[in-house]
Amino acid sequence: MENDNGVCNMMIMLELNHCMPSPALSPASPCREMFVTLSISFLVLGGAIGLDNGLGKTPPMGWNSWNHFNCTITEKIVRATVTAIIEKGLDKHGYKYVNLDNCWAASSRASDGTIQPNPTTFPDMKGLIDFVHSKGLKFGLYSDAGYYTCGKRQPGSLGYETKDANTYAEWEVDYLKYDNCETDGSKPEVRYPVMRDALNKTGRPIFYSLCETGKDNVSLWGPKVGNSWRTTRDIGDYWDKMISRADVNADLWPYAGPGGWNDPDMLEVGNGNMTFEEYKTHFSLWCLMKAPLLIGCDITKMSDDTFKILTNDHVIAVNQDPLGIQGNRTKQDGTNEIWQVPMKDGTRVALAFNRGDSASDITIQWTDIGFPNSASVNVYDLWDDKKMIGKFTGSVTAKAIPSHGVAMYQVEPVST
Ligand SMILES: *[C@@H]1O[C@H](CO)[C@@H](O)[C@H](O)[C@H]1NC(C)=O
Ligand SMILES: *[C@@H]1O[C@H](CO)[C@@H](O)[C@H](O)[C@H]1NC(C)=O
Ligand SMILES: *[C@@H]1O[C@H](CO)[C@@H](O)[C@H](O)[C@H]1NC(C)=O
Ligand SMILES: *[C@@H]1O[C@H](CO)[C@@H](O)[C@H](O)[C@H]1NC(C)=O
Repeated sequence: MENDNGVCNMMIMLELNHCMPSPALSPASPCREMFVTLSISFLVLGGAIGLDNGLGKTPPMGWNSWNHFNCTITEKIVRATVTAIIEKGLDKHGYKYVNLDNCWAASSRASDGTIQPNPTTFPDMKGLIDFVHSKGLKFGLYSDAGYYTCGKRQPGSLGYETKDANTYAEWEVDYLKYDNCETDGSKPEVRYPVMRDALNKTGRPIFYSLCETGKDNVSLWGPKVGNSWRTTRDIGDYWDKMISRADVNADLWPYAGPGGWNDPDMLEVGNGNMTFEEYKTHFSLWCLMKAPLLIGCDITKMSDDTFKILTNDHVIAVNQDPLGIQGNRTKQDGTNEIWQVPMKDGTRVALAFNRGDSASDITIQWTDIGFPNSASVNVYDLWDDKKMIGKFTGSVTAKAIPSHGVAMYQVEPVST
């Protein structure tokens, strides 16, 4: 019940910060209602804290090699990526993890069973990791809870959990993505905790990212095992794939929280097969759903549009909000949707999303986002540099949202 007390204390702080200076809260005041709604959400979410290793209090941010480079990844590309992250200042926006995916290891273990880097593509793994750390960034690796990784590209960690965890800790790895191919057929909830415990025993905090594609209702047991868990099959750089992953992930909102996150897979922003509006929608949904923000494009060749999307600090702040509630969809009217998420400062973020094929006006009612209709609010446009659009009561209409596009507003109650 310690959690519940902490939650209540935090809620009282919130109430004080945001409902003052109005004297005592009258039962009908917007703040009262907000307080009650948020408290209920908190109690529901009280048990959903992830793995106890001190990591992932907000969703992880960084880059992963897979979506763009797949098995063509090399140490040279990773070094160039690190340099580009620093030159472009992506780290200043929060992107810290530099994560290798499949295909970094040699096809067989050393004679003593130690996992070894591919000598051609990763001739100096420890040097690379030290380079990443010297830039103030963190380093991630990939393995698998089976005999091989997916595509049988390299040995998996099944039966070698302790040996591999010790190797990673010795190399000073900060993050492990753990896949679910080529297994012995046992349930993932049996195999994944073995690596969790092996990582824990090394004494090095290593972010543990479960990648078992949502099987066996992973959101129910994932919070006890990892810092994040894949809820979907692989994403692809196509509108339909991206949006279907968002749809699967959306309903799982009650299971995420500080320390453990639902993971609808890595970002495709900048890979070229979606439009600017579609990538903005992709990023907005991932931020609102508290998804890990792992850039999946070639950062060394990133366009200005891609940069603009991935470095919008107002939208990133929604993802990194310390309250850690995953947003959800509260209204569907044909192809017009409203999504919302409560923020720690008492504001709410509303996303008006047009799934349709032509532009559409979308009206956000306060009741869609957990505020009473009588509330007066200031509305800020997060994709327009958080410019205030105006003060409204009851609702606000986002005009002419393009096909597959969004309007993302922060809504702040004001005392009248
Ligand atoms: C793998 O990555 C390379 C380099 O980006 C790309 O040319 C190739 O199409 C990718 N292959 C697959 C199967 O995605
Ligand atoms: C190992 O687990 C214990 C108990 O959950 C936790 O207190 C500790 O911080 C963990 N250590 C690491 C390195 O993850
Ligand atoms: C997942 O949960 C649903 C609803 O609780 C249940 O019907 C289903 O059998 C579960 N699936 C697995 C594989 O456990
Ligand atoms: C959406 O989440 C809020 C908490 O943020 C919760 O109160 C509400 O019931 C949820 N609505 C749906 C439709 O899941």
